[in-house]
Amino acid sequence: MKGSDNYMNLPDLKEAKKRTNKDIKIINNDYKVPKNMKTFGKNKKYYIKTYGCQMNVHDSENIKAILEDMSFTEASEMEDADIIILNTCAIRENAHNKMFGFLGRVKHLKESNPNIICGICGCMAQEESVVEDIKSKYKWVDIIFGTHNIHKLPSILEDSLKDNTQEIEVYSIEGDVYENIPVKRDSKYKAWVNIMYGCDKFCTYCIVPYTRGKQRSRLPKDIIREVEKLVSDGYKEVTLLGQNVNAYGKDLKLNYTMSNLLEDVAKTNIERVRFVTSHPWDFNDKMIDVIAKYPNIMPYIHLPLQSGSDRILKLMGRRYTKEEYINLFNKIKEKIPNVSITTDIIVAFPGETDDDFNDTLDVVNTCKFDSAFTFIFSPRKGTPAYNMKNDLSEEEKNNRLYKLNELVNKYALEANQKYLNKTVKVLIEDKSDKEGYLMGYTDTMKLVNVKADEKYLGKIVDVKITDVKTWSLDGILEKV
Ligand code: SAH
Ligand code: SF4
Ligand code: F3S
Repeated sequence: MKGSDNYMNLPDLKEAKKRTNKDIKIINNDYKVPKNMKTFGKNKKYYIKTYGCQMNVHDSENIKAILEDMSFTEASEMEDADIIILNTCAIRENAHNKMFGFLGRVKHLKESNPNIICGICGCMAQEESVVEDIKSKYKWVDIIFGTHNIHKLPSILEDSLKDNTQEIEVYSIEGDVYENIPVKRDSKYKAWVNIMYGCDKFCTYCIVPYTRGKQRSRLPKDIIREVEKLVSDGYKEVTLLGQNVNAYGKDLKLNYTMSNLLEDVAKTNIERVRFVTSHPWDFNDKMIDVIAKYPNIMPYIHLPLQSGSDRILKLMGRRYTKEEYINLFNKIKEKIPNVSITTDIIVAFPGETDDDFNDTLDVVNTCKFDSAFTFIFSPRKGTPAYNMKNDLSEEEKNNRLYKLNELVNKYALEANQKYLNKTVKVLIEDKSDKEGYLMGYTDTMKLVNVKADEKYLGKIVDVKITDVKTWSLDGILEKV
């Protein structure tokens, strides 16, 4: 697909906002490497820098496999790479700053070796202001592609080499579902599995529905087949991925929703099933019952709150009240034994008063979350909240974040303290930063540093917790 000016397709956030009734296509055979690109990467190395959420992490796993299909091998350092790809995130302003900072380093390398190819993809590539900037100030960037055409990387690269120009191919479309894109997974034990793409919730602060397109679910059979293959390859854990997984299946009109999918994934007998992210709006009782019923569905739920103030929740377009959130929270706690619940919270949303902020603190005091990701509201161009008036000073915004974090950390430590001297199951997945230790996560998603020999990598073991901190636990292998 080529643009009207014959070599580029520029992003357009207004266009990206449109939603039609057009049926989503499931496309099984669109990925191919042109013949002349098959050995293009021979004796060359790639390096990918990934920002953002798990979805981007998983997209980078696809990009790695695509580059390996062109005979590239992975470089351990960026300095050794012949092609450098930045897979970007647009969720907050500081994500932008980080990426442009990194681009400075790439420029430096390219000055000493002009043959290095530099590519930018991911959510920032879907923003016109970013692409305009790159076009005018970073002319040396070779290719820019978006979230809808990752699988086209070989031909995008081919076009850029042919024309010897900056190749921009970004589509602001609702999107389809592409199957059979290769993947090179970072872990041998746990795997990301996309179950849906895009988002139709349009929370007023959020850029994701613009950068990722319409909500579109993969077919159940394609997901189950992928999980079954992972089981036979020896994987212990899958995390089902979507911006809003509880809405899974609604667009398919198959009368098959997230509770059905969770049940079928659990029945593959994969040892651990996780899923992110849950929007409180679509979290129904059937889902809670399925999670409670299957021991291999992990008792861990990330349930973003965003704000505790009904007024602010309404301005955010979140479609639930403080009371509804707390009721759902309590129901989950009651029905799923030992469940851990974490959350996301935004402070200083436009118009947030002291009272509104206190409502947020109040929910934190009520729910005592296992942990929380907390953010200062960041205006995203193109979203409704970008134009909302915000009177708070930077100092006040930072004060609120600080106050919230103090409370969140207090409850995180309290939640962890309950684990002291207890024995828990941990999937040992890697070496820890702590010398002589390995690391892994409990069923409830607590990070544990375990004093153990490397032969335990990839095993689910019983660990006795010997020390607890706010963000992690320490433990030793339980004697059998
Ligand atoms: N789909 C998920 C969230 C994805 S983004 C959900 O609906 O819960 C991850 C988190 O980033 C959000 O939960 C929100 O807390 C935060 N976030 C998103 N947009 C933001 C913005 N403009 N400013 C600050 N934080 C934001
Ligand atoms: Fe963004 Fe809301 Fe969609 Fe989450 S549900 S991705 S916060 S628009
Ligand atoms: Fe960032 Fe895009 Fe994910 S904006 S959080 S990488 S969906």
